[in-house]
Amino acid sequence: AKVKEVEFVKSSNKPKDCPKDERPEFAMLGRSNVGKSSLINALVKKKEVALTSKKPGKTQLINHFLVNKSWYIVDLPGYGFANASEAARMDWSSFTKGYFLNRDTLVSVLLLIDASVPPQKIDLDCANWLGRNKIPITFVFTKCDKMKGGKAKRPDQNIRDFQELIRQNYNHQPPWIMISSVSGLGRDELLLHMSQLRNY
Ligand code: GTP
Ligand code: MG
Repeated sequence: AKVKEVEFVKSSNKPKDCPKDERPEFAMLGRSNVGKSSLINALVKKKEVALTSKKPGKTQLINHFLVNKSWYIVDLPGYGFANASEAARMDWSSFTKGYFLNRDTLVSVLLLIDASVPPQKIDLDCANWLGRNKIPITFVFTKCDKMKGGKAKRPDQNIRDFQELIRQNYNHQPPWIMISSVSGLGRDELLLHMSQLRNY
């Protein structure tokens, strides 16, 4: 499950402009600022392959990165950005929903959940939408390094609460993993998980 090489392929502003080949891919999905772009950089051990920002709303397009010339990792715009206009939010939803419903080579969505905050309705709604549409999910709990930080941040408890809500709403239990793009926690485990899903 080693990453030997990664190359940025293209940015697409609509699903039908995405690369057309048979290589398997994984898509990073989650709220703005949850750490999607940072996780790509952590996985490939490069600082700024995917552009990150303290301000939400950094990633605006569908960005394809090709790993070891054999599989793609896809950076997507985040959802739930409070400052986005209603129009921009509508746009987000038709744009990314179109991608999910039509991308035959998608192996799994990596649904990123911020472990430093309590369960958010928008994340549960997203998981339910993907589930209803039979799109495979892996839950990736991010920012687990914040565990030892402030008293208000309780990743362990937040993750348990989230899983409980999923159990109540969902008839199967997707695989899940805890990560930190800062400490590297979970990196190797996630790469192994993705290689198992690709069957090599
Ligand atoms: P959008 O592109 O706006 O949807 O955001 P994104 O999900 O791509 O988030 P991004 O990777 O740009 O990270 C947002 C902020 O969170 C940055 O300031 C990162 O440094 C920080 N961050 C990301 N991952 C982690 C993590 O694992 N731990 C900590 N402590 N901070 C993180
Ligand atoms: Mg981003």
